[in-house]
Amino acid sequence: MFDKLKEQPADSLLALINTFHADPREYKVDLGVGVYRDEHGRTPVMRAVKLAEAYLLETQDSKRYLGPQGDLSFVSLLKPIIFGAGPNLGDRIVGIQTPGGSGALRIGAELVAAANPNAQVWLGTPSWPNHAPIFRSARLAVKDYSFVDLATQKIDFARVVEALSSATAGDVVLIHGCCHNPTGIDFTAEQWKQVAALLVEQKLVPFIDLAYQGLGDGLEQDAEPARFILDSVDEAMVAYSCDKNFGLYRERVGALYLASRNSMDLYIADTNMASLARVNWSMPPDHGAAIVRAILESKELTGIWKTELQEMCARVNGNRAELAAAHPDLAFIATQRGLFSNLAMSKETAAALRLKHGIYLADSGRMNLAGMQPADADAIVKALHAEGAL
Ligand code: LMR
Repeated sequence: MFDKLKEQPADSLLALINTFHADPREYKVDLGVGVYRDEHGRTPVMRAVKLAEAYLLETQDSKRYLGPQGDLSFVSLLKPIIFGAGPNLGDRIVGIQTPGGSGALRIGAELVAAANPNAQVWLGTPSWPNHAPIFRSARLAVKDYSFVDLATQKIDFARVVEALSSATAGDVVLIHGCCHNPTGIDFTAEQWKQVAALLVEQKLVPFIDLAYQGLGDGLEQDAEPARFILDSVDEAMVAYSCDKNFGLYRERVGALYLASRNSMDLYIADTNMASLARVNWSMPPDHGAAIVRAILESKELTGIWKTELQEMCARVNGNRAELAAAHPDLAFIATQRGLFSNLAMSKETAAALRLKHGIYLADSGRMNLAGMQPADADAIVKALHAEGAL
């Protein structure tokens, strides 16, 4: 049987993790995979997380199963962080715990396929490289359209309007809620309004990917566009990740939320999420969600977590400012948000930056600004210049 399989290429982004570690050079900069790094180049366990883990070690008295929806206290404690403290939150939104944002996207994709197998998923490019494969593996058709022009570092808004205007009622639109991955370029307030109007007019279902809340402008500000979209439409889906804003990467902590104005539809969709979780992973892993729950149940730990997140956010934006100031052609980096910026370059140029200069970017030219130190800005600019990327 196995002889019928075709060899699959390694994920080129994740492969960078090992290539970087195996590189013996003393000077190297890891701008590859999207993890936060501190001023010592480490990805530390957050203090609030350590305290929550100590608390769990002390108090957790069972590892019994929780069921396919996972830890529902975790799911509801996150709700006001994501959706605000609106009065109808409970009635309009249901959710389940998932293994990371990827698990939420996967279950969401299968839910769409079950509800409307003919739905097309509209995906602005470039996007996170795993988006299209996840939707395709749920047997959904993916419709690409150009979202950002890397040469100008601007949203190609005319193409966005054109794409959404040509979508069919019931189609799904993947939207980055904040901190666009890979470009760091989000819609302006005016563009969000136009997008919301188009979603309503065309009867499209937004599927919002919110994986970096708190790492752009702050927890509240980063959630505002998603809240606005949810207020505007009848139905929406939100894939949420705590991997980045709680620094829980390998614990795989996320949630899938569904919003609807029809409570019976919402109830039925909720039962579908649970049964899809059951066939995919039966029940999600607990530890990461238990940590987030313990943090959000405690006023003190929540305060510590929010302060740490603000510090992380400030460091990333400080790195942005530093690199933007190091060369006039990189000035746009200061105006973008989240971990990433995507320079226009070929795969060969990205490889030359790695091999000749020890500057590790994704093959696509995406760089993780959290991976640098302010003092690296000159070396990065020099390398970009030497390889003709500036
Ligand atoms: C990234 O975009 O670098 C992260 O989300 C890691 C991943 O899973 O691709």
